[in-house]
Amino acid sequence: MNSEEYQGVFKVAVLNGDGVGPEVTAQARRVLDVAFALAERDVAFREYPFGGSAIEEYGVPFPDATRVGCLEASAVLLGAVGGPRWDEVPPEVRPERGLLQLRQAAGTFANLRPAVQFEALVGSSTLKPDVVRGVDLLVVRELTGGVYFGPSRRYELDGVETAENVMRYSENEIIRIARVAFEAAQRRRGRVVSVDKANVLEVSRFWREVVTALHSAEYRDVNLTHAYVDSTAMMLVRDPASFDVILAPNMFGDILSDIAGALQGSLGMLPSASVGGRVPIYEPVHGSAPDIAGTGRANPCGAILSAAMLLEDAGIPRIAGRVRLAVAKALSDGFLTDDIARGASGVSTRGAADRIIHHLRHGVVADPVTRP
Ligand code: IPM
Ligand code: MN
Repeated sequence: MNSEEYQGVFKVAVLNGDGVGPEVTAQARRVLDVAFALAERDVAFREYPFGGSAIEEYGVPFPDATRVGCLEASAVLLGAVGGPRWDEVPPEVRPERGLLQLRQAAGTFANLRPAVQFEALVGSSTLKPDVVRGVDLLVVRELTGGVYFGPSRRYELDGVETAENVMRYSENEIIRIARVAFEAAQRRRGRVVSVDKANVLEVSRFWREVVTALHSAEYRDVNLTHAYVDSTAMMLVRDPASFDVILAPNMFGDILSDIAGALQGSLGMLPSASVGGRVPIYEPVHGSAPDIAGTGRANPCGAILSAAMLLEDAGIPRIAGRVRLAVAKALSDGFLTDDIARGASGVSTRGAADRIIHHLRHGVVADPVTRP
């Protein structure tokens, strides 16, 4: 990865994006500033237009200058894209298309979405505290293939207007993402559930075959099971603490990770890292939340925990652990934004981040465990 080769300044390309993106990203940047200072490392930020706001200015969601800036950086820090304003624009210039183009340009085929239940939030989930307590799972989502990247078209079939998207995976694409899941499991509790729909889809039967073959050849120490995506969705709400690593193709991982976010009390809590390519991308799993954009009430934790994942990959896991502990501490102090405040009035985005930064500076001892 670029960051490891990098000797001097760690260069972060910041893509604020749309909706609450700029608000949460600003707080993640503040955390990174403090964190790099604590580690006595230099960090520099450079902003680039992206998503709907780039469409307004340049007519496209992922302008060339943004592409170049991202590929030159040590890491990309991303807010969120999209909003009702761009719902009617042609698909080639939708904000979401820009996100897919960024992931493809960066080559980040592995999307890591850890969901760790904070004790202070067991009461914020819609599920019973006993069900969500102890959840510590990692969704490993394939990110640059499958139905989101397959051929698509609209055409007339027997005189009827019809549309299709092709779900396609090559053996290589499956092997490289399965490796990421197996290796994550080796550092964790040693279990992988590989998700598919092999009772119906050919592409899933192939996925299962390839994952099974790789497991027997190289990762026999990992406990591998296969599960259908519908049953996995059910198990995620029934017994989420039973999961360690969930390996999923692009679309299934997209869907299941939203459930994982809700388990924790709010999708606003969930971070992600997209790795395996030229430059890693760190972004909260939540979207642009147009309904609360501009109010300063968004939950910054997803973005800040994504920054912690960046610190881990930048070779400062000790400080990454301190960021996570600072988040846990701020939550248990009651610094909860509206989405997790259980009906009470929440603190502001900035207020939550201030408390986290306070604990990061004055603080708490490092968590030796590195995740994911
Ligand atoms: C996500 C989002 C994106 C995706 C959208 C905005 C393109 O839902 O990161 O989960 O589908 O990957
Ligand atoms: Mn999603």
